[in-house]
Amino acid sequence: MEDIEEKIAQFLKVGEYVRSDELVAEAGCSLDELENFLSSLKKRGYEIEENPALGIRLLEEPDTLSEVEIARRLKTSVIGRKAYCYSSVGSTNELAIRLGQQGAEEGAVIIANEQTKGKGRFGRSWVSPRREGIWMSLILRPEPHLEPATALSLVAAYSVAIALREVAGVRAMIKWPNDVRVGEKKICGILAELSKDARGNQFIVLGFGVNVNQSSFSGDLEQVATSVKIETGEKIPRLPLIRKLLENLEEFYFQCKKDGFSGILKGVREISTLMGKRVEVSLGGETISGYVQDIDDMGRVIIRTDEGNISEIFAGEANTVRGTSVACDRGR
Ligand code: BTN
Repeated sequence: MEDIEEKIAQFLKVGEYVRSDELVAEAGCSLDELENFLSSLKKRGYEIEENPALGIRLLEEPDTLSEVEIARRLKTSVIGRKAYCYSSVGSTNELAIRLGQQGAEEGAVIIANEQTKGKGRFGRSWVSPRREGIWMSLILRPEPHLEPATALSLVAAYSVAIALREVAGVRAMIKWPNDVRVGEKKICGILAELSKDARGNQFIVLGFGVNVNQSSFSGDLEQVATSVKIETGEKIPRLPLIRKLLENLEEFYFQCKKDGFSGILKGVREISTLMGKRVEVSLGGETISGYVQDIDDMGRVIIRTDEGNISEIFAGEANTVRGTSVACDRGR
């Protein structure tokens, strides 16, 4: 029965009328059954207009983030199979840490339509307006010696960038270690946090802030932030992007668990903005300047410093120094 409902949902188009006899023929159900399926779709958030003279049409694609909607058509076996969805929370990362401490399983995700205290890196805040983005945290329980947090942040950034390219046609790039950018502007930030559960087992929370349907940003953000809508001119439903992101995470995370980070390294290097660029990396109180030579198989960025040394950096914030770049050299 669910399949017939899905068929009807897929056959309906935004703005285009379909006759009920066409829908019945397509779905293989009776007219009475069609009525029941349409009311079930309406309950799921589909806005459907039924006009006796013209037919049936979708007014707007649903963008309801519920556990049922996320699970529907999700092609993963671990990542996102358990989803906790909220209308409004302080921070999905905070909630994920609490659930992880209580033993929530690997792959569980916490998603909210809005965050009132969204957290960014380095104690910054993350603006998370209602229904305009993907505010989501994922619990992973990796082997700490096999998957360093930096590599996992890159798995996360790579998964987002590929999902944005495939679902929204946005030319997303990775800025090491965990930003996703379009041109000079940030479209997604990732916050990785480590914690321990009651049994002393370490787990990692990966928080994703993906800007999707903002039409503009105010204040300081205007210069540095962008969204799918700003890049493409179109408002898109978040669900297909969430599903694709979860599917990419499953593929790349388990590939890394099996073969190490090197399995996705080629792809990561290809869409990394820093390769060959002159950068300044802040590490606590210290700043390292030099040229990025590579990202290695542990997710570290390799810099040839101005003093001629090679620095392998696990974490930090790298900023490019404009107008300068060199060819990358992996033959260290
Ligand atoms: C950054 O500073 O670039 C990281 C931003 C991470 C924001 C996301 S939104 C979902 C999750 N919950 C939070 O409080 N922060 C992360």
